[in-house]
This record gives sequence, C-alpha cells and structure tokens, in this order.
Amino acid sequence: MTRKLDGRTALITGGASGIGLAIATLFAREGAKVGVLDLAPNMPDTAASELNATGGHWAYASCDVSDAEAVTEATTTLAGALGPAGIVVNCAGIDVIAPLEEVDLALWNRMLAVHLTGTFLVTQACLPAMRDMGWGRVINLSSQLGHRGAPGMVPYCAAKAGVMGFTKALAYEVAPDGITANTLNPGPIDTPLVASLPQEVVGAIVSELPLGRLGTVAEVAGSALLLASPEGAFYTGASLNMNGGHVML
Ligand SMILES: NC(=O)c1ccc[n+]([C@@H]2O[C@H](COP(=O)([O-])OP(=O)(O)OC[C@H]3O[C@@H](n4cnc5c(N)ncnc54)[C@H](O)[C@@H]3O)[C@@H](O)[C@H]2O)c1
Repeated sequence: MTRKLDGRTALITGGASGIGLAIATLFAREGAKVGVLDLAPNMPDTAASELNATGGHWAYASCDVSDAEAVTEATTTLAGALGPAGIVVNCAGIDVIAPLEEVDLALWNRMLAVHLTGTFLVTQACLPAMRDMGWGRVINLSSQLGHRGAPGMVPYCAAKAGVMGFTKALAYEVAPDGITANTLNPGPIDTPLVASLPQEVVGAIVSELPLGRLGTVAEVAGSALLLASPEGAFYTGASLNMNGGHVML
C-alpha cells in the first residue's frame, strides 16, 4: 500500500502534545520519519506510546524553539537520526489570558518568542536542506484569532497574525525551489492548551460557533496532511481555516 508520505522526513515542533502530537502520529502512519522537538527532556510516555503504535520511525529532541543555539543543536541531531527534514510543522505554542494593561514585557516577549521567533528559527534551520532537495513543505500553526482577535489575548493574536505574514512572505521566497509555505488557522480545538483556559471562556467560545462544538486534533492533522501530500502541492501562502465557522473567510 502506498502511503502519502513514504520517503519523507518531517520535523514537528510542539509535537509532544495536542495538535502537534496528532500531526506527528498521522504523518508517521502515512510513512514519514518524524522528528519531534519539544520542551520536556524526553518524550512523555503517553505521547511516545502513541507514536510507537504507528510502527513508524521517530526521534525526539528537547529544545526551546525560541533559543537559537538549542534549535541549531536539536535540528542537527534530528537530521542526523532521520535524515534532513523536507517537512517542517511549527506547532509549539503557549496561551495566556490577560488584559493588555496586565501584560508585562516579559510575557509579551515570551509570546512573540515562542510563536514567531521559534517559527523563524526552526524554518530557517530547515530551509537549506529543503532547497538542496528541491522540495519542501513549511506548515505553520497560526490561529483564527490572528484574523478575528479576542479580548485578553493581545499578545497571542499579535503573534499569530505575525505567523500569517511570515508565512506569506516566505511563500514567495521559497517557491522557486519547490517549497511551499502555508498556515493552519484552527478554531478552538480540544487540547491541553484549551483545557487550561477558564471553563467560562471555553463555554462562551463554543456558544458562538455555528458547529457548536470544539474541533478535534484529528481534524487539524488531516489538513496538515493535505498540505504535506502530493494533492496539496498547489497550496502556497494559503490559510486553511478549520474553525467550526467562527470566522468565514
Ligand atoms: N488548541 C487550540 O484550540 C488552538 C487553536 C488555534 C491554534 N492553536 C495553535 O496550535 C498549536 C498547538 O496547540 P495545542 O493546543 O496543541 O497546545 P498544547 O499545549 O497541547 O501543545 C503545545 C506544545 O508546544 C510545546 N511548547 C511550548 N512552548 C515551547 C517552546 N518554547 N519550545 C518547544 N516547544 C514548546 C509544549 O510543551 C506542548 O507540547 C499552538 O501553536 C497553538 O497556538 C491551537
């Protein structure tokens, strides 16, 4: 049976949990070798079990994506273990709810560092190998909130809108070498990140959704697979909005 990602290697940041883990698992099932890059010193046991169950080939490197030296070291380690990545999924993320007057500079800088600087550093580290291959897929997790905004989430929304701009500009630069760059803009998805939000906040969000429920990680992972698959080759600079109808663009 031919699988959609046979012969490919993918690097997934934030791949130890939630959406990133779902993408890592689906990509491994579809034949990709999968490198996971996340904060914990080792892959958490439950996540490791999920990846082992795919029967696929995977490796883990601990790394804070906002740390340039750590990114160089981790991406080099994973390339040594699995071969250079042709697919990079920038999924590492954090979420904090606070009105702007209560956002201190450290929180602001951290939000931009994880989402935006991390996306920059990891993508930049992977691009030379993609150009050598004449093929690459950059898939960046933004959010519908980068389009619509949300109260108490100014730093997050600014970072996610930044990821959209980053991706569109990059799409022009890399297209001549057969590399595409796209964003996934999920609505509220049932993950540990959303579970950490106050219950009333989640309830209020769901009540506004035409589909009336949280999305699933599998629904986001399926869109990531489309972008990485031959069928997704004509998407670049695109924003895929799986958001239950919260924003219709
Ligand atoms: N869950 C949602 O509703 C939703 C909606 C839109 C966008 N997103 C985005 O999708 C991505 C994944 O979110 P999730 O809900 O799966 O979250 P999650 O908390 O389940 O997973 C995020 C992962 O990122 C890792 N991480 C955080 N900071 C890191 C850093 N500095 N370096 C390396 N790894 C780091 C965490 O350890 C964790 O494993 C995030 O970018 C998030 O903003 C999520």
